[in-house]
Amino acid sequence: MSQQTVLITGASVRLGRYLAQQLHAGGYRVITACRTDPAKLDALARTGIEIIQADLSTVQGIDTCIGEVLKRCTSLRALIHNASLWHSDEEASGSMEVLDAMMRLHIAAPYRMNRELRQLLERDGIGDIIHITDYLAHAHAHKHIAYAATKAALEHMTRSFAAEFGPGIKVNSIAPGIISFRDSDSAHFRKRMMAPAVFKDPPGPQALWDAVSYLMRSDSVTGTCLHVDSGRGLSRGQGAQN
Ligand SMILES: NC(=O)c1ccc[n+]([C@@H]2O[C@H](COP(=O)([O-])OP(=O)(O)OC[C@H]3O[C@@H](n4cnc5c(N)ncnc54)[C@H](OP(=O)(O)O)[C@@H]3O)[C@@H](O)[C@H]2O)c1
Repeated sequence: MSQQTVLITGASVRLGRYLAQQLHAGGYRVITACRTDPAKLDALARTGIEIIQADLSTVQGIDTCIGEVLKRCTSLRALIHNASLWHSDEEASGSMEVLDAMMRLHIAAPYRMNRELRQLLERDGIGDIIHITDYLAHAHAHKHIAYAATKAALEHMTRSFAAEFGPGIKVNSIAPGIISFRDSDSAHFRKRMMAPAVFKDPPGPQALWDAVSYLMRSDSVTGTCLHVDSGRGLSRGQGAQN
């Protein structure tokens, strides 16, 4: 069988990068789309991961990405929507552009890409679409109402696309809690963020990869959400710390 291709958005850093590397190590041809100049992602490109430079919070960037994928690929094994903008309400309420960018990246880009790339995903057996959302999409958000609302829309699209695209394509989401902290996060912040969780240590990116690979292996799971949130959702009623 020829090498299968996975498109994952936002693999320039952190979790997306880890997932792209795991997919590549698993034998897939991996393409990512992100804003960073590919020349600055030399180490990633050297591993063989292909980079499309596209700002998926713009109509032009979404079109560029779709056009490039249609040019480069005859089929897709999976499409993983990982790219994300984490803006606070302070930023979003001060500028409609910030809110628009999150709506385009978390809603418009997956919506258009799922539709425009559907045929590629159906071409070689069952394809997968995976939306990486956030546990906040299921909780009430404290300082990230706009961000959480756009991720909740993505959760909703998971179910609708699963119904529309099945059985040729499975469509699922993964709602992470804290997976890993940034180096700059203080000890106080880390403790406060993990306080509502059952498991007090962030699980690290392997937990996300386990969820992605489970969904890709499954031949019966579609239209659902895997909560990789260390049990954080259990304290939903007490409000979200974010
Ligand atoms: N880290 C966690 O603990 C955690 C918790 C809950 C949910 N999540 C979710 O998990 C996913 C990965 O999280 P992360 O922490 O690794 O995110 P991150 O560090 O903020 O990285 C986001 C990625 O998205 C890309 N991106 C941002 N804006 C873009 C745009 N307009 N067009 C194209 N690409 C864009 C970035 O690349 P460029 O800058 O090169 O564009 C980057 O590769 C996200 O969907 C996030 O919401 C993560």
